[in-house]
Amino acid sequence: MKAVLISGSEAQLASLRVLVETEGHEVTNALQHHADTTLSTMIEPLDTDVLIVECTEAQQAQDIAAIDAFVATHTQVVVLLLSTQREAATLLAAMQAGVREVLSSPAIATELTAALRRVVLRKKLPPLKATRAKTISFLSCKGGSGATFLATNFADILAKDLGKKTAFLDLDLQCGDAAYYVSPGPNRSDITELARQIDRLDAKLLSASVLHIHNNFDMLSAPEDPESGYTMNATQLDRLLDVIEVNYDMVVLDLERLLGPVTIQALDRSDVVYLVMENLLPFVRSAKRLVTKLRSLGYDDSKIRVVVNRYEKNDTIDVAQIEKALGIKVTHTIRSSFQDVAQAINTGVSITAVNPHNSIVQVLRDMAHGYDTSHAPRTMSWINRFMGSNS
Ligand SMILES: Nc1ncnc2c1ncn2[C@@H]1O[C@H](COP(=O)(O)OP(=O)(O)OP(=O)(O)O)[C@@H](O)[C@H]1O
Ligand SMILES: [Mg+2]
Repeated sequence: MKAVLISGSEAQLASLRVLVETEGHEVTNALQHHADTTLSTMIEPLDTDVLIVECTEAQQAQDIAAIDAFVATHTQVVVLLLSTQREAATLLAAMQAGVREVLSSPAIATELTAALRRVVLRKKLPPLKATRAKTISFLSCKGGSGATFLATNFADILAKDLGKKTAFLDLDLQCGDAAYYVSPGPNRSDITELARQIDRLDAKLLSASVLHIHNNFDMLSAPEDPESGYTMNATQLDRLLDVIEVNYDMVVLDLERLLGPVTIQALDRSDVVYLVMENLLPFVRSAKRLVTKLRSLGYDDSKIRVVVNRYEKNDTIDVAQIEKALGIKVTHTIRSSFQDVAQAINTGVSITAVNPHNSIVQVLRDMAHGYDTSHAPRTMSWINRFMGSNS
């Protein structure tokens, strides 16, 4: 649906935009209503599906009269009114003017979202983007397992082979250097800087803030300065993912091993978590500890996929023993390939660019093709999660 927003407050326009865009609708106009302008002159030329107007107590009667005249000639437009006044007389006057619903001002996220969904149902119009991206995380069981290398190349394949619009978030906030795995230049994006602007984040700001690795593949890098990594919090990540998930087909997260609030939020938002390990005893011990921790945090085993990287057959630890130790199936084994991987890493290009026939590419392709289906939207709306995280 196309939506136009009108409010006296710039800040309120920004938060309305996030709410409306997160529901998958397009904000064609966000207009600030100054005291010296009448609403009728602002709304008369508008072409939209839904008009969301926030009015002040002082202007309310005048605004409702303007809406009355507008609705008479724009019968296809649904008007939602945000007002601090919600007593019976106001509601009646608004309804008589053709307002579909009167909502609280300032907007309450759950209330506005529910109203928008009712409008969609009534109009039988799909949101512009009916589904949310799948979010896939990579978590290293022990330093150097290969999580970042696999995550970046998995994202590259999703974007190149499957044509999925893919966002990569480097959430290894103190040490992350994922951008260098697939791009030659220095980082040009910083996820913490964007997180600080979360209240005004929309599709436009997002697009201007990401590092465009190539067509379909965008990245939000970790900050160059590790100190900045501490400034990002779980709520910011939650809201960032709300916007990212409606603007991309797939989201790939590279997580840090320490299970702090941001990592837990990322795990919470992930559809699938790949645990990357090697078939060496220290990795098995760490993987076991990590799986125990994930279970104690309430994550179901069905969300976890175990990937054994640099897999070499040896007499002491094989796949069956890893599965027995963890109580989870190993879904992928990946061979060591020093030469091709070193060339890719040292030149800042993907492994497909170095050698598209490398066996690592084949495994990553198999992983990626597992997501080549359309998927249903999540059962729990982001807004419930957002309210939950703030309650
Ligand atoms: N299958 C492989 N064959 C050869 N080299 C590999 C393979 N997988 C990863 N590497 C190399 O191993 C090194 C460590 O990989 P990477 O940085 O991805 O690990 P990580 O798990 O992200 O580590 P950290 O926990 O420090 O973030 C890199 O130089 C990477 O290129
Ligand atoms: Mg890493």
